[in-house]
Amino acid sequence: MGRWSLQDIPWDRFDRIQLDPEIVKIVKAASLVEYNGGAYAHHLCRIFHDDPEFQQAARRWGEEEIQHGRALGRWAELADREFDFEAAFGRFQAGYQVDFDAEFSRRGSRSGEMIARCMVEIGTSSYYTALCDAAAEPVLKEICRNIAADEFRHYKLFRANLLRCLRREQIGFWRRLRIALGRIVEAGDDELAYAYYAANETARSYDRRRCMRSYAGRALALYRERHVEHSVALIFKAIGLRPHNHLSHAASRLAWALIRYRAYCWRGDLTMC
Ligand SMILES: [Fe+2]
Ligand SMILES: [Fe+2]
Repeated sequence: MGRWSLQDIPWDRFDRIQLDPEIVKIVKAASLVEYNGGAYAHHLCRIFHDDPEFQQAARRWGEEEIQHGRALGRWAELADREFDFEAAFGRFQAGYQVDFDAEFSRRGSRSGEMIARCMVEIGTSSYYTALCDAAAEPVLKEICRNIAADEFRHYKLFRANLLRCLRREQIGFWRRLRIALGRIVEAGDDELAYAYYAANETARSYDRRRCMRSYAGRALALYRERHVEHSVALIFKAIGLRPHNHLSHAASRLAWALIRYRAYCWRGDLTMC
């Protein structure tokens, strides 16, 4: 298991006065995606079927992701007394389905799968850091601080395995870049949108575009430039580029401008959701 447990969280310090209802909505959605971590661990074990050492690390990683879901779900149940974590997870699983039994990575290679996993962990590490910085409620702050540290460790785990895979597979720079960018774009697919729906919108029918904007509009508003700079440096390292130079600073400024633009455009939609 991880380096912390639910017993380490100071639940008795929960302070309802400090709640931000916008943050509660996105935490509910995040809890469902995290709690699904076991399915991704299963998929990694299928892809690395002849590598028991990595399989063990992947199962441990999956348990930590599930714990993230439990911690966020328990907090969300405290914050919103009408939220039923297990029922919402049931709705999420019923509506969002991916072939977790596939033996081959959709990225075309094991290295490609590790690049994609690095992108996810960079994204979650920066997201929970941003959430920790933005939240005023002390229990959520503590949960996010723990999760962000785990996500950074997960990035290092997958990057170490990526370097190992690259010794056997020939993946050129442009292919690595394409996989990395592709995975970042995929953040706009159904998973987060459907989790937002299953957690928050049981009375309406599912509309991917509306739910994605509802989720991402609230999530992107949490980011500050320092979170983006750190993420871009890690992305550069994952695809084999030096992390701190003119190119990475330019990419960081571009990413920050895009995030601010999207957060600005989607802010108007949030009043209707
Ligand atoms: Fe996680
Ligand atoms: Fe993670």
